Amino acid sequence: MKIKFLLLFMLLTIHNATYSLSDRLAFYWEHLKKPLQVGSITPSSQKTGEAIASYLLKHDGSKEILEVGVGPGSGITDFLVANLQQNDKLTFVEINPSFAAILRDKYGHIPNITIIEGDILTFNPEKKFDYIISSLPLTTLPKEFIEQYFEHLESLIRPYGIISYIQYMGVSLRMFLSSLFRSKSLKTKMRIIERFKNKWLLESTRVFRNMPPTWVHHLQVA
Ligand SMILES: C[S@@+](CC[C@H](N)C(=O)[O-])C[C@H]1O[C@@H](n2cnc3c(N)ncnc32)[C@H](O)[C@@H]1O
Repeated sequence: MKIKFLLLFMLLTIHNATYSLSDRLAFYWEHLKKPLQVGSITPSSQKTGEAIASYLLKHDGSKEILEVGVGPGSGITDFLVANLQQNDKLTFVEINPSFAAILRDKYGHIPNITIIEGDILTFNPEKKFDYIISSLPLTTLPKEFIEQYFEHLESLIRPYGIISYIQYMGVSLRMFLSSLFRSKSLKTKMRIIERFKNKWLLESTRVFRNMPPTWVHHLQVA
């Protein structure tokens, strides 16, 4: 049943081919193995890349950029790499070893890109970042993780830096459905996510050309 569902999604999203068939298959396969950690069955689109990188594109000088939860690379990663300036530094943190291996193959030769294989919560560099781009599937991860993740992001960003992240649309419907089954866990997670978002929110935009359609939230952490 799940395989049929994935095949249907492959057909529906194959037109959005900014990445190779092998990357796409790796994404579906890893999602089958670790659905909650991967959290989505298709990589983000180029349009999502444009929306999530909109603030850093306005920045002329050199900048430190962190992408968290890169997968095998997506429309977000391609957009960041295509717009990298000579003195910019781009760091990837990805927990999944298969995805990290693909990232090393694709981007390992680019001098201003650093690829870290591991959990973002254990990533403690000395430097701070000007921009953090995140596509972690927050609502499928445990609430304890979400709380620690937000605290960690605050420690990684420089003052007045920008955190931009995606949140798939349709969470309200999922909350309603889960409330029918008396599940409070999604509601609790959303409360934590909303609290963090509302503390620092600059702007939210919608991207419909993504599967699934998504919100992009930009936060400025003072
Ligand atoms: C929804 S996918 C997004 C992939 C890609 N950035 C995109 O937008 O299509 C989430 C990614 O986050 C990674 N991930 C999940 N938990 C993580 C963690 N604690 N630290 C680093 N990466 C993590 C998963 O392995 C997966 O590649």
